[in-house]
Amino acid sequence: MQTTFFSVIGECVSQDVPFPPLKKPKFTFVDLFAGIGGFHLAMHELGGGCVFASEWDKDAQKTYASNYGIMPEGDIKKIDEHDIPHHDVLCAGFPCQAFSKAGKQLGFADETKGTLFFDVERILRYHKTKYVILENVRNLVSHDKGNTWKTIYSHLVELGYRLTPEPLIVSPHYFGVPQLRERVVVLGVYDPPKAHEPLTISLPKPIDKRECSLDSILEADCQDPDYKLTVEESQIIDTWNEFYQGITETVLGFPIWVDWFKIPPPAKGEMPEWKRQFVLKNNQLYQNNKTFIDAWLCKHNNLKGFTPTMRKMEWQCGSSVKSAWDAFLQMRPSGLRIKRPDCAPALVAIVQVPIIGKYHRRMTVREAARLQSFNDKFIPNPIKYQAYKQFGNAVNVKVIKECARRLFSYE
Ligand SMILES: C[S@@+](CC[C@H](N)C(=O)[O-])C[C@H]1O[C@@H](n2cnc3c(N)ncnc32)[C@H](O)[C@@H]1O
Repeated sequence: MQTTFFSVIGECVSQDVPFPPLKKPKFTFVDLFAGIGGFHLAMHELGGGCVFASEWDKDAQKTYASNYGIMPEGDIKKIDEHDIPHHDVLCAGFPCQAFSKAGKQLGFADETKGTLFFDVERILRYHKTKYVILENVRNLVSHDKGNTWKTIYSHLVELGYRLTPEPLIVSPHYFGVPQLRERVVVLGVYDPPKAHEPLTISLPKPIDKRECSLDSILEADCQDPDYKLTVEESQIIDTWNEFYQGITETVLGFPIWVDWFKIPPPAKGEMPEWKRQFVLKNNQLYQNNKTFIDAWLCKHNNLKGFTPTMRKMEWQCGSSVKSAWDAFLQMRPSGLRIKRPDCAPALVAIVQVPIIGKYHRRMTVREAARLQSFNDKFIPNPIKYQAYKQFGNAVNVKVIKECARRLFSYE
C-alpha cells in the first residue's frame, strides 16, 4: 500500500504507521529539532497530538515519517513562527555540539548551531506556549562559567516563563533504564506574574546504576549474522581476557598499554604528566607479572596482528566481573574497554557499536532503541548505521515522559 506523508501544517497525515496521530489528543505539541522523535513518542504516550515538527536531516525525516505519519519541515531558521499552529507544549532538544565537551565549546558564539536557542525563543515569544521542555547535554549548565545557562534562563523569564532555577539533571538509569546518560532538562510554564518565582519540580530518588541490568533490554535469541563478531574481534577479546586471568592484580585503575610494558617513560616535561604516570604503572605491572606476560606475549606473537588501538585495554569493572565475556565491551580509539554489564555508557551518535560479551555479538539496533526507551513497535531506519546514529542522537523517551508528567501536573 502506498503511503503519502503530508506535513501537519497541511493537516493531512498517514494513519498507516505504528504511532498515528491520536483522534482526540488531550493536548497539542510542537517537536523542534525533532530527530526521530524521542519527544514525540513521550508526548504521544501522554496523550499529546503533534501539530508541527521540524528536522532538516533527510534520513531522520524518513524515520520520523514512517513512525508518526508526519513529515517534518526542514530548517527551523527558515520557518516563520506565524506559520506554526497554536500548541500547548513546545519540545526542543536543540543541537548540543556547541555546548558538549567533545565540541569546541563555542556555545552562543557558534553562529550556525549555538544560536538555535534564539529560534526557540522567537517561537515562544509569538505563541506564548503554555509549557516548554528543552533538553541538552549536561555541560550546558557549566558552559562559559555558567553564562550560557544564565542567558537561557533570563531570556525565558523575560518572556514570562517560570522555571526551575537550575535545570534538572536526569539520566535514564535514574528510572531503571540501563543507560548512564546525564542530560539537562529545562522545564518551564508560562506564567508572567510569577515568572520570577522558582518552579519546584522534583524527581524521585535516582536508582543506583548498579541496580540496573542490561538484561532488561537484551534480545535473547538474536540470530542476525550482521551482529556476529569477526574471528579477529573474538581473538582480541580472548587474548585480553587471558591477560586479565593471568596477572595477579584484579583491579586495574589505569589503561594497559602493551607498547609501554618494557619502555620507561621519557623525562618529566617530555610527555604529559598523566601519561607518564600511566607508563610508570604499566612498567610496574610488567615487573610484577614478568613471567606470565612474557609467555603471553610470546604465545600471541607480541600482538603483532593487532591494530595499535587494540594493543591497549581498559578494564573498567574492578574485580566484579571475572571474564571479559561476562562484560559489556567497546572497541574504542583508546583501546578495548571492558565494563560492568549493569548499565551501558551513553549511546552516542559516533558509531562504535558495543559488544554484549555473554552473547558474543554486537548490540542490536532494537537493543539500542530500548536503551533510549523507544517502544518495540518503533520502526528503526532500515540502514543500521543510520539507526544507531539516530538513536545515539535521540532523547530518552522515559526521561522526557517522567519530566513532562510532573510539569503538566504542576499548577
Ligand atoms: C540532539 S538532536 C535531537 C534529537 C531528537 N530530540 C530525538 O529524539 O531524536 C538535534 C537535531 O537537530 C537537527 N537540526 C540541527 N539544526 C537544525 C535546523 N536548523 N533546523 C532543523 N533541524 C535542525 C539535527 O539534524 C538533529 O537531528
